[in-house]
Amino acid sequence: MTNKQIITIAGGGSTYTPGIIQAVLNNADRLPVAEIRLYDIDKKRNDDMYLIIDFMLKKDGYDQVQLSSTEDPKTAFSGCDFIFSQIRVGGMKMREQDEKIALKYDLVGQETCGLGGFAYGMRSMSGLLEIVGYVQEFAPDAWILNYTNPESIVSEAVRRTYPTAKMINACDMTISIEETIAVNYGYDRKNWIPSYYGLNHFGWYTSIYDKALGRDVMPEIIEKLTTQEMAVADFNAGDKTWQEAFSMMSVITKNFPTHVPNNYLEYYLYPDMVVEHADKEYTRANMVMDGREKNTREMAQKIRDGFTEDVLNFNFGEHGQYIVDMATSLLNDERRRFMLIVPNQGAIPNLRPDAVVEVPAYVGATGVEPISLRQPINDFHKGLMEAQVAAEKLLVDAYFEGSYQKALQAFTLNQTVPNARVAKLVLDEMIEANKEYWPTLV
Ligand code: NAD
Ligand code: G6P
Ligand code: MN
Repeated sequence: MTNKQIITIAGGGSTYTPGIIQAVLNNADRLPVAEIRLYDIDKKRNDDMYLIIDFMLKKDGYDQVQLSSTEDPKTAFSGCDFIFSQIRVGGMKMREQDEKIALKYDLVGQETCGLGGFAYGMRSMSGLLEIVGYVQEFAPDAWILNYTNPESIVSEAVRRTYPTAKMINACDMTISIEETIAVNYGYDRKNWIPSYYGLNHFGWYTSIYDKALGRDVMPEIIEKLTTQEMAVADFNAGDKTWQEAFSMMSVITKNFPTHVPNNYLEYYLYPDMVVEHADKEYTRANMVMDGREKNTREMAQKIRDGFTEDVLNFNFGEHGQYIVDMATSLLNDERRRFMLIVPNQGAIPNLRPDAVVEVPAYVGATGVEPISLRQPINDFHKGLMEAQVAAEKLLVDAYFEGSYQKALQAFTLNQTVPNARVAKLVLDEMIEANKEYWPTLV
């Protein structure tokens, strides 16, 4: 029998915590849990989440699971087995700035892509390096499973600072895409073995083998995407942003029908269309503040007010299950397959080995075993990826060296940016807005 585990959620106050804890409880046979610790720098958010998770534990009959919330890293991490990391340095308020500053100059204003993603990256590196540092100090044997964005940039910063950290970087987008495709076109995603390569939020499927049907279904999915736009799956029901994102997959596929794309490629391939459709006054950050964040506060308030019925109200699809599957794969040597963000080291043979890429990987007791593609990728994808990797590397250099010049090069090279003039304007405004968070650039 496996020892009962101690799980610490870094960013305990995150709106995703209820979904993740629900998945932990749903998998208690594979991931027996003794203790859940919520760690956050924001006491109010952490206290709210404590109430919600405490309610969930009692409702589901898990009273024996010890729950705590803390703002003290030593208390949070000492002796823990797993850290699920999902912090957002600067919160939604700074996400709003990222989106709105870029949009003001008619550039893509987005959480992880374009210059918004770069601004967020410059904030997020400090926060995540701090978490990884605490874990090295207080729980060096624990596994960190990281969802904190922007994944490519923060993984690169961790790769440089803590090359031997026991850390897995993952994104839920590929399973969300797969689930959405499956429900739209009548497949069962559980039968799929997808192959894929790229950078985070910047990649392509190369095949989707369906075990039950005994064939690669990607060609027929491409055909369907080009003729029939997808509707969002239930976990994104009513969400206009995600509906537009999944509709754009048809635009991408019509023009480039060789692969199924990651929807995030819309920001790099069609930045003008995205900006044209954007509301510069009310961006995604506003929607999330008025939606998910408000909803989380309301759940906590209902518990404070003594409600016992209809309190829990969230649906994040497979997001929680995916990270729990990683934990159980490590713990029980299950060797499940995931798309993971890893140093390339030959997985994509004709891309620089020190790029951080997203590829399929098996996870077992000894950690992550990425799959090598064994054949070169085409020049179109390679050229796009090389520019993006170089831009991200320059940004991480700028962070560690405190270099304005490197930051300007990174901003100019970003594939959503048409010229160096606008890159500098946005950079200067973002430096001002991020004074509290970015290192000083000289
Ligand atoms: P959120 O703002 O609701 O929650 C983040 C929490 O982190 C907040 O409670 C905040 O106080 C806390 N925090 C900020 N800085 C911290 C620090 N230095 N140490 C500890 N806690 C800190 O954000 P969210 O929408 O729930 O998203 C959380 C993170 O997960 C973001 O980085 C988001 O981009 C990422 N995310 C990733 C995926 C993925 O697939 N990789 C999916 C969803 C969300
Ligand atoms: C997907 C991506 C995440 C991203 C999230 C944004 O899940 O994989 O990396 O953080 O979408 O969602 P939001 O609702 O915050 O815009
Ligand atoms: Mn992601």
